[in-house]
Amino acid sequence: MLLPRYTDITHGLCQRPARISPKYFYDQQGSQLFEAITQLPEYYPTRTENALMRHHAAAIARAVGTGRVLIELGAGSCRKARALCETVRPSCFVGVDISADFLEDSVASLQRDLPWLDARAVGGDITHGVDLPRDIPRAGRLVFYPGSSIGNFDPPHALELLGHMRELVDDDGGLLIGIDLPKDVAILEAAYDDGAGVTAEFNRNVLRHVNRLIGSDFDLAQWQHRAFFNREDSRIEMHLEALADAQVRWPGGGRVFERGERIHTENSYKYPLPVFTDMLARAGFAQAQAWTDERDWFAVVHARP
Ligand code: AVJ
Repeated sequence: MLLPRYTDITHGLCQRPARISPKYFYDQQGSQLFEAITQLPEYYPTRTENALMRHHAAAIARAVGTGRVLIELGAGSCRKARALCETVRPSCFVGVDISADFLEDSVASLQRDLPWLDARAVGGDITHGVDLPRDIPRAGRLVFYPGSSIGNFDPPHALELLGHMRELVDDDGGLLIGIDLPKDVAILEAAYDDGAGVTAEFNRNVLRHVNRLIGSDFDLAQWQHRAFFNREDSRIEMHLEALADAQVRWPGGGRVFERGERIHTENSYKYPLPVFTDMLARAGFAQAQAWTDERDWFAVVHARP
């Protein structure tokens, strides 16, 4: 029987070109593969952002203030929150992630290591807005959205998501967000098509997850990883390309893919800083302060209403 909550997947698969939302990358295995990506020599964003946060830790702590209610969206391993908690000493930490099991483990480990902190895990899909339990205090909230994950949304949806973040905080709140900046195409493309093939495996794993969710029979060996920079839209695109004609079935439907046909699995937008601060202003975050690395590859922005 087809589970009605995954009709977005079957609907996307039947489109031409077919697509799967990147949020389906993150089953347990996908979250682990993403962790492996962040350690790859080619994948600069995590390393650059971490160095940036470390280097400007004092200035960032001064800007955001202590005793906050820190809310991390897409918290995953909580590794970034851990470092931030040590410098800004929030009163409460709320990790939100679509991969609830993975999140619960990492929040539990954060709680063990920082016993003074009230740490909570909230499973949820932020693409439909962010719903927090009612007992999370509203005063002094700081939304933390690192890693340039905002790049997964096309500009209208990114603006909408920033609007949701604005609604999460009162006028005394703030947003600390990481964004990947445009740069040399060879560097961008290598970051999404690494030599060890980890990103390829991460991309193909979405089919394994989809097979489990909708009961389809994708054969992962029939699909090839493709990643390239689309200059016109300033985004990395990831696709899965059929190596041979493929017939895919799932309960209640199916589709034939011809050799060379693609499934679009991810966009990763690279916004110039002024374009992004303009989006922030339109979402209700008028004041922005940004820190960048010496190569201007990545930016961490603190925005206030
Ligand atoms: C988690 C969305 C920031 O776009 O760089 C990494 C995901 N995809 N390699 C990114 C990803 C392929 C990543 N984000």
